[in-house]
Amino acid sequence: MKNINIGILGCGTVGTGVAKILIENRELISSRVGALLTLKHVADLDIETDRGVAFDKGVLITDAYKVVDDPEIDIVVEMIGGEGIAKDLILRAIDNGKQVVTANKALIASHGNSLIKAADEKKVDVAFEASVGGCIPIIKSLRESLVGNHIQSMTGILNGTCNYILSKITDVGTTFEKALVEAQANGFAEADPTLDVEGFDTAHKLAILGALAYGMEINLKDIYVEGISGIAPMDIEFAGQFGYRIKLLAISKNTGDAVEARVHPTMIPFDNLLSNVNGSLNAITISGDSVGDILLYGHGAGMMPTASAVVSDVVDLARNLLSGIKQRIPVLSYQREKIRRIPVLPIDDIFTQYYFRFSVADRPGILSKISGVLGSHGISIKSVHQKGRKSEGSVPIVMLTHLAKEADVKKALLEISSREVVNDRPVIIRIEDKDEQEKS
Ligand code: HSE
Repeated sequence: MKNINIGILGCGTVGTGVAKILIENRELISSRVGALLTLKHVADLDIETDRGVAFDKGVLITDAYKVVDDPEIDIVVEMIGGEGIAKDLILRAIDNGKQVVTANKALIASHGNSLIKAADEKKVDVAFEASVGGCIPIIKSLRESLVGNHIQSMTGILNGTCNYILSKITDVGTTFEKALVEAQANGFAEADPTLDVEGFDTAHKLAILGALAYGMEINLKDIYVEGISGIAPMDIEFAGQFGYRIKLLAISKNTGDAVEARVHPTMIPFDNLLSNVNGSLNAITISGDSVGDILLYGHGAGMMPTASAVVSDVVDLARNLLSGIKQRIPVLSYQREKIRRIPVLPIDDIFTQYYFRFSVADRPGILSKISGVLGSHGISIKSVHQKGRKSEGSVPIVMLTHLAKEADVKKALLEISSREVVNDRPVIIRIEDKDEQEKS
């Protein structure tokens, strides 16, 4: 039986999971691939800690360059993460003609275009199924299953940490801080959790999906990003009263000449399937002109689910090697010369619905001043709610709008703030309500 040698760089949570699958499920994998997949080396600075995996003697080594330079290793699996040494090692592996698998979303989102160019020049594959949505086969779906479709839109919950925090605050009343500590303890938060809570991790993932879906270069810098750290429990409670849940969504729409690509907390109706994706789970809906809507759902983080996606890439590349084929499927799904620079629509140009919360003194005339300014900017109010009554201090006034342009919303809220009718900066949360949008 033929043999394919694998080298893993980094033996942290996911790296350990990949080693575990390759060792413990070796027979299962070989009965599917028709060859042995041998874990030749795993490189990590720490080779002493017992990871609960039965490594053969000499497999664990400290020198990652020894793995990428080893002529016997066919597939290099980068599990270090980050944009430093991981990039250097991947480039060296490509230069040495290795097939490469990575789960490194930050690296692919920021440097994917140049890494893919390097891989094209060397005619090797770079696979990154685990970079988006953990175990969910979203990359395979876009690169293979949905190739007969023009992708019209994608809406996803792509960060387990944020979804866990928002679910805990909504369902259990936990504080933001406590829920974040729990997410960290469960091992799905990034080493720097601001990447999670400020939306950047979700943006990395959306940048990758956009390229695969629309045939555009990976473009991280033009994605609008807003995280969940400004969401108050009060807004989550009000959202519930209007039939909405707040989720951190990655939203992407193909508008023809441009794409929308934005990450922000969003109110979605209870009957939207994504509304019921809770805890650390991820999900994504994709709309294509042939398939209509599909929903992919599963564990977006964690040792074994993420390792499962990495191993699927390893097996794909092993099968290619056995057939003597490389680059059977273009890395970004489209032929290199067909990949375009499609502009990302500036956030000011999008149309959506809005939730506003104003903090105002409870006295006559305030409401009419606010609604007057909104009206003068062409913003149509769907409903107004005054929450509670106080003789002194502030009361929240909540407004829901019909579809409005973001630029108009910003101008109106600036004017409202400058008129000193509100006591604090207004809170804005965008709403995605398909039924309501279809009526508009
Ligand atoms: N920090 C990420 C999350 C891990 O919370 O979803 C998976 O990419």
